[in-house]
Amino acid sequence: MIPLVDVKAQYAPLIPELKERFAAVLESGRFIFGPEVEAFEREAAAYLGVPHAIGVANGTDALVLSLEAMGIGAGDEVICPSFTFYATSEAIARVGATPVFADIDPVTLNLDPADVAARITPRTKAIMPVHLFGRPAPLAELRALGMPLIEDAAQAFGAEGVASAGVCSTFSFFPTKNLFALGDGGLVACTEDEVAERVRMLRFHGSRDKQTFELVGTNSRLDAIHAAALRVFLPRLAGWNESRRAGAARYAELGLGDAVDLPLDEPGHVYHMYVVRSPERERIAAGLEQAGISCAAYYVTPLHLQPAMRYLGYEPGSLPETERASAENLALPLWGGIGPEVQEQVVQTVLAAAGVVA
Ligand SMILES: Cc1ncc(COP(=O)(O)O)c(C=O)c1O
Repeated sequence: MIPLVDVKAQYAPLIPELKERFAAVLESGRFIFGPEVEAFEREAAAYLGVPHAIGVANGTDALVLSLEAMGIGAGDEVICPSFTFYATSEAIARVGATPVFADIDPVTLNLDPADVAARITPRTKAIMPVHLFGRPAPLAELRALGMPLIEDAAQAFGAEGVASAGVCSTFSFFPTKNLFALGDGGLVACTEDEVAERVRMLRFHGSRDKQTFELVGTNSRLDAIHAAALRVFLPRLAGWNESRRAGAARYAELGLGDAVDLPLDEPGHVYHMYVVRSPERERIAAGLEQAGISCAAYYVTPLHLQPAMRYLGYEPGSLPETERASAENLALPLWGGIGPEVQEQVVQTVLAAAGVVA
C-alpha cells in the first residue's frame, strides 16, 4: 500500500543521530523544561523570525493559550474558516468566545478577505486565518482589516511569511506535520512581549516561579525528549519542504492536471498536503483504493455543519465555496523524499479512474 504520508522514510536516516540526542536527555535527567526545550524555543524563534517561541503540549493548546493570553473570551467573536481541522473553531469556543465562520477563496482554499470583512462586528476581537495544507493565507489583506490576527499555522512550519503578521501564531508537531515531534507537541510564536509572557505563564498553571499562581492556567508543556527530536529535524525542514515542492511540480509535469484541478503553485507553499479537486472525487478515490494507493478527503463535513457547532445556527448552503471544497477535495500521496515511480503510479491510476486514459 502506498501511504498518504511516509513519515518514517523521512526520519529513518536520522535514527542514529536521534538515538544520540535521546541518550543525552537520559543522561541529563531533565525531562520537563530545561536546556533542550529552551534551545529549541530559541532555534524556532530564530527560524520563524519572531521574538518569542513557547513550546506547549500540542497545536490545540497553542490556540487556546494564545486566545486566553490575548484576553479573548465570553462575549467576543473570532472570525475563522470552516474548511479546516475542528481544533480551530473548537479552541475559540473552548475559551467561551463565538466562532464566526467566513467562506474561502475556491482557488487557494484559504480565507476570503472580502467575506471576512463582511462578518466583522463590534464584538470581533480577532481573525484566525489557517495556512491550509501549507499554503500561506492572505495575511496582508487580512491585516488591512484592522483586527489582531492569530495565525493557525499548524500545517505550515517553514511556509513563506507565516508568523509574520499574527500577534500569536500556533504550530502543531503532530507526526504527519512538515515539522514533527515523535508524539504530540506544539508551539506558540508571539510578537508581543506581554502576550508571550502570559502564554508562558498559562502553560504552567499561571505561574512565573512555581510558587505564586497569578492566573488560572493549565499544564501544557513541550517535553524535553520531543524538543531533542525537533532540534534534529528543524535543520532538515527546508530540504523536506523543497522536496515536497518538487513532488508537487512533478505531479503537474506527469499530466495529473488532465484529470483533476491541481493546487495553484505559489513560491511560499510548503504542501503539507497535496490536495486536488474534482467533482468525480468518489470515483477517483475508489480507483486509487483499488490500486493500493492511499488518498484522503479532508473536512468532508465543514465545521459550520458539525454537530458541536450547530448552536451557531449555520444552514447547509450558507458557505458555498467551503461546502464545494468539502465535496471535491482529495489529498494524494506526498512527503519529503517521495520518489518519481510512486508519483507515476498515482498519476496513471487517477487518469484511468477519471476516464482520461483507458
Ligand atoms: C489547522 C489545524 N489546527 C490545529 C490543529 C491541532 O493540532 P494538534 O493535533 O497538535 O492539537 C491541527 C492538527 O492537528 C490542524 O491541522
